[in-house]
Amino acid sequence: MVDELLRDGRWHGGLWTPEVEAQCDIRSFAELCQFISKNVPLYVQVLETGTTFHTDPVGYDTYSTPNLLKWIVNPARGLLSSLDLEFYPQTLQVLKAMDVPWERRLQYHYGDSVNSIADMYGTVEDHRKFDVVHLDSAEDVGGHMMNEFYALEALLAPQHYLMIDDIHNPASGKYKMLVPWLQNMAEYDCMQVPTAMGTFLAARGLPLPRKT
Ligand SMILES: C[S@@+](CC[C@H](N)C(=O)[O-])C[C@H]1O[C@@H](n2cnc3c(N)ncnc32)[C@H](O)[C@@H]1O
Repeated sequence: MVDELLRDGRWHGGLWTPEVEAQCDIRSFAELCQFISKNVPLYVQVLETGTTFHTDPVGYDTYSTPNLLKWIVNPARGLLSSLDLEFYPQTLQVLKAMDVPWERRLQYHYGDSVNSIADMYGTVEDHRKFDVVHLDSAEDVGGHMMNEFYALEALLAPQHYLMIDDIHNPASGKYKMLVPWLQNMAEYDCMQVPTAMGTFLAARGLPLPRKT
């Protein structure tokens, strides 16, 4: 797998091995959110780029908006700011179907995620910085996600988690630039979590879900 990733240019360097991946018990995005929830403050501030619009019950454990709300935001009385180009009525349908309350806990923002991060932050109550960020928006070769990171870097809490979706999805390239960039930053501990499409997890000052 590593050889394959290196050969076709989807992986830029060396942290991940199958052994490291096997040391993590987490297998779904929902489980990853449950782990993160143990390490976040009360009134947690969460940001996602790319809102959930699929509604198939088969995917309930994989969707970002309901799982961020259910496991991280609601128990800690926090706020999820969700950025997307458009509004999807399906998001509310899936929240209802999964029995996840969202009133006063979910704030939508429409527009290009990179251009609207600063404006969006201006509307976040009490202006606490983001403790958890999930990046999953435009499908390109990675520049958009890199720009998202630059746009929000100053808005990150001193201790925080960054999640990047789709790293094991051969059809996706959006993580291509940001993942190696974070791996090279000394302040982040990083690992790959074998969720459905693979999630890259970077932690600054917080624990990772590795088996001891
Ligand atoms: C893969 S989907 C998000 C899935 C969601 N995170 C989940 O797990 O259910 C990607 C979303 O990103 C949005 N998107 C694409 N380009 C964007 C951009 N430049 N700014 C904001 N959102 C964008 C799309 O409209 C789409 O809804």
